[in-house]
Amino acid sequence: MSNLIDYKNISMALSGNTILKINHLAIPAHQCTLLTGKNGSGKTTLLKIMSGLLKPNSATIHYQGLELSWKQAKPYIQKDIIYLHQQPYLFDASVADNIGYGLYRAGESKSAAHHKVMQALDWADLTHLAHRSAKQLSGGEKQRVAVTRARILSPRLLLLDEPTASMDSDAKKQTSLLLQRLKSEGVSIMVSSHEMHTIEHIADRHLHLENHDIKLIRHTPSSNKVTLLNTTKKKL
Ligand SMILES: Nc1ncnc2c1ncn2[C@@H]1O[C@H](COP(=O)(O)OP(=O)(O)O)[C@@H](O)[C@H]1O
Ligand SMILES: [Mg+2]
Repeated sequence: MSNLIDYKNISMALSGNTILKINHLAIPAHQCTLLTGKNGSGKTTLLKIMSGLLKPNSATIHYQGLELSWKQAKPYIQKDIIYLHQQPYLFDASVADNIGYGLYRAGESKSAAHHKVMQALDWADLTHLAHRSAKQLSGGEKQRVAVTRARILSPRLLLLDEPTASMDSDAKKQTSLLLQRLKSEGVSIMVSSHEMHTIEHIADRHLHLENHDIKLIRHTPSSNKVTLLNTTKKKL
């Protein structure tokens, strides 16, 4: 199995305290990784480093056949890897305009952008909210708009920071459904979460952050999980 990206020797200290000391973090292509860890263990710090938003003290990145320092890799990873905040920031504009924002900025024509936004809204089952002010949405709806806004930019890896914290169970289901759709389209996903059960069924791997380092807890590609279930059914 090939990796989308490998991060090696990540080290990060903040205010003189070691936060991360990770020898190797591999992100397999087209898989979903669950990242757990106690509050303050460094999940947000790690996801921000991975997406090029926060400069570590050191890190080497293997990406697309190149071995790069974090600084050298930054332009590539900022283009292909999107970090989603726990409480996504949406502009004081309609849902459709929020989703299209990145396209307008990238210089897409108005009609091409409009077409893509309509398709994206349909993909996310959000068409009924297209003209609603983004500021009036519930937390769960905001998160789904943020996922849709990220998807329209065709990321290769989407990093979600505790996306389902403080959501009710319906909103959790809808968010996890969108992540499942993204994964089936080939987008690699990493989700930090305290709530393993929300995401565990779509996660191929479970990593745990503890004592500044990453531990692999489980690696069962979810396609294998389906195969195992089918095999079990046949035997019964
Ligand atoms: N800007 C900062 N300056 C100093 N310490 C920080 C800063 N940001 C985060 N930290 C510390 O880094 C540690 C990891 O934080 P964080 O990555 O937010 O953890 P998590 O997301 O797992 O809760 C915590 O101890 C936090 O207090
Ligand atoms: Mg955090």
